[in-house]
Amino acid sequence: MNAVIRGTGGYAPEKVLTNADFEKMVETSDEWIVSRTGIKERRVVSNGETNSDLCYKAAQRALEMANISPEDLDMIIVGTVTPDYFLPSTAAVVQEKLGAFNSAAFDVAAACAGFLHGLSIARGFILNGNVKRVLVIGSEVLSRITDYTDRSTCVLFGDGAGAVVVEADENGVEGGSGVLSSYLKADGSKTELLWIPIGGSKDPITQQNVDARGRYIMMSGNEIYKLAVRAMCDAAQKTLDQAGIGTDEISWLIPHQANIRIIEGVAKRLKIQDEKVYLNIEKYGNTSAASVPIALDEANRRGMLKKGDYILMVAFGGGLTWGASLVRW
Ligand code: UT7
Repeated sequence: MNAVIRGTGGYAPEKVLTNADFEKMVETSDEWIVSRTGIKERRVVSNGETNSDLCYKAAQRALEMANISPEDLDMIIVGTVTPDYFLPSTAAVVQEKLGAFNSAAFDVAAACAGFLHGLSIARGFILNGNVKRVLVIGSEVLSRITDYTDRSTCVLFGDGAGAVVVEADENGVEGGSGVLSSYLKADGSKTELLWIPIGGSKDPITQQNVDARGRYIMMSGNEIYKLAVRAMCDAAQKTLDQAGIGTDEISWLIPHQANIRIIEGVAKRLKIQDEKVYLNIEKYGNTSAASVPIALDEANRRGMLKKGDYILMVAFGGGLTWGASLVRW
């Protein structure tokens, strides 16, 4: 049995925030942002636009490519840390929007690694024979949890969604397409390096903690940076080892788009040439769980992924959580 990606989809909201816009909001410069992060612009939602709206649009595109109707889905998984509500899950809202009423639906909270957690879960259920078709989405509306007075974080984040339809291939043969291996890991001892301190059940929102700006993403960027490079390399290597594939056999590295320097550091350590690294950070910034599936969809729709290609996806984020998946296209 193989778990095969039949379709991909992506969606980013229309509204664009450029580095020039940030120069008017905080003390920063286009030069600082581009040289330190690689980001030139990011997309953000408009009033009334929700996470589930982004999910819905990305999902429709993935389902259309897969030629699968929503009623045929057995499971919907949404990786997100910016759900429409705490209750219900965003996946349940998306189920209703799609009319996918034969599916289970749940969210995965694994920050920037949320999509790869979802993909790994989908693969597990498919290989166990429990389900046949799973919609995996990574989607975020980070603009609603970004402190636009904090220059060290606000220039980094954007909104968007990416989706894949994964299907069981019972005739899966040695050498066929599919998700070949996955590796997931967490370190809950470093929570405070990247978190939102208030708004959960431990510290519900009060006027006082809202005024203290505790409802926004807080990040110790420099420490996260160093941990990210090490963890992403380790996850990538473990995933490749599981499948017995060498880095020289990789056609595309599709990394979480948090910082161009992190990506370059990972590629260099893994000895993967620059031309095999898919980059779109310049256009979207860091979209957390959405960044890997948006990049995968872009590369796919641009015809860059050929049958038989080995594609390595890797991500790192809050939790801390990280992971990688290897796909034969
Ligand atoms: O997606 C989840 C995982 N997240 C990540 O992987 C992000 C990881 N971290 C990073 O990408 C980088 O650490 C940042 C891009 C966030 C920051 O880059 P850095 O090279 O680590 O800069 P820094 O935090 O060490 O700050 C250097 C200087 C500081 O000034 P001083 O103290 O040296 O005078 C900051 O105050 O840059 C200053 N700075 C800024 N200057 C202009 C911080 N933000 C800005 C800004 N514009 N927007």
